[in-house]
Amino acid sequence: MVSQENSTGKPLADFNWLALHHRAKLPERTTFAKRIATLEPKSVVDLGCASGLWLEVLDQFLPTECEFIGIDSDEKVLNMAVQRSSSWQRKTSFIQLDLEREASQIPPCDLTLAFNIFPYIKNLDLFIDILSCRVPHGTLAIRQYDGASLRFGPMPTSKRQEIEVELRIATENSKQFYHYDLDRTFKILRQSSYQISNYEFELFERSSPFTAEFLPYYKDTLLWTCQFLSKKSADYLHTWIDADPLMLNHYFYEVDLVAILS
Ligand SMILES: C[S@@+](CC[C@H](N)C(=O)[O-])C[C@H]1O[C@@H](n2cnc3c(N)ncnc32)[C@H](O)[C@@H]1O
Repeated sequence: MVSQENSTGKPLADFNWLALHHRAKLPERTTFAKRIATLEPKSVVDLGCASGLWLEVLDQFLPTECEFIGIDSDEKVLNMAVQRSSSWQRKTSFIQLDLEREASQIPPCDLTLAFNIFPYIKNLDLFIDILSCRVPHGTLAIRQYDGASLRFGPMPTSKRQEIEVELRIATENSKQFYHYDLDRTFKILRQSSYQISNYEFELFERSSPFTAEFLPYYKDTLLWTCQFLSKKSADYLHTWIDADPLMLNHYFYEVDLVAILS
């Protein structure tokens, strides 16, 4: 079982998994961190900060006068974030909060990061409303994946579609998170009271030979997928993986929603 759950049972949030994910996407994440650093925030709040990987990237590009606040419900990863931040020369704090139940305690700031956190929030309308009512609410930067925009290949379309349908039904039935959350997010952000907005779709792509930074993320995501599938589809996917163990003729792409609102 490749659960990739964190210590509070949130799926796709295990700290090892997040570290693999981060390492695989570090060049793109670094580019985005540089971009939001140009907003020159004096304070940053990272919603669902986990072990502080995004803040660590931002630490390289923001002046030390900028304060960082990381929020997560998982005490274990917050302790790791505290350790990670020990060499940072800035005011930094980490707060353990259930973002959905205790949203009113999210502090106001210049820049709020909401990176792949919305899939865990059931009442997203209310959550965005609470974020926008903070004074100041500052800028809200969102990065949101969607299970339907991840593609592994090459693979026969009929097989891919069978796998995709089974994964969607299984993750929806689990009711643990919204693995397909881009459209809900887009719609709610458009209806929010943030006045200025910019929406983009960012491509993340790799084709083999894969780097040592990317390969573990690719394999883990495939194995994570297998556990949601029927035996027939899981067997197919395992055979597909084993047919090219070094992944010499593979590709991967994903499209994320990137929105900046203020
Ligand atoms: C998928 S991870 C995203 C981590 C990071 N933002 C990133 O993009 O790599 C989601 C994080 O949100 C946290 N989380 C999920 N639901 C939460 C909630 N209701 N309150 C606080 N943290 C939550 C999880 O513990 C996990 O660390």
